[in-house]
Amino acid sequence: MSEKNNSFIIKTAVLTISDKGSKGERKDLSGPVIREMMAEIGAEIVCADIIADEKEEIKAAICSIADEEKADLILTTGGTGFAKRDVTPEATMEVIEKEVPGLPEKIRADNISITPQAALSRARAGIRKNTLIINFPGSPKAVRECLESVINIIPHGVKILKGEITEH
Ligand code: MTE
Repeated sequence: MSEKNNSFIIKTAVLTISDKGSKGERKDLSGPVIREMMAEIGAEIVCADIIADEKEEIKAAICSIADEEKADLILTTGGTGFAKRDVTPEATMEVIEKEVPGLPEKIRADNISITPQAALSRARAGIRKNTLIINFPGSPKAVRECLESVINIIPHGVKILKGEITEH
């Protein structure tokens, strides 16, 4: 394996998916958890938006960030459960070009031992162009626990995706 340089900084976009948050009826506490945790590993937060639980709006936000190369990584929080309006996984699946099942598999495997309800998240992950997209559940506690499970392997994946690591 060879790495081009060690100063690669992951440009990260955070999308909070919440009807109430998008209308200003609920303070977004989950987006800031992601921002804080990613900043701790040296990522650069390039955007943080709050979007309603509307499939077309979620798809448009992901596509705009990925297609205009605004970020290497998009982390979404919310909309992964069983409520009628929860459509984040469906929106994600409609815009990714390659699925990355191992990340949600690891998240669920690790988190079920913290709380069995972790099995209720339908979160998915995948790649569109040069951007990795990962869904997380919506509560600040859940997003912290779930991101903790993969935060140390995300940089390696993003570096491979961006061609920063070659010759495995
Ligand atoms: N994962 C962890 N680690 N901790 C949690 O408290 N909550 C679960 C699950 N994942 C939880 C978790 C619950 S109760 C639900 S309903 C789903 O995430 C989906 O959450 P969402 O609809 O906010 O995305």
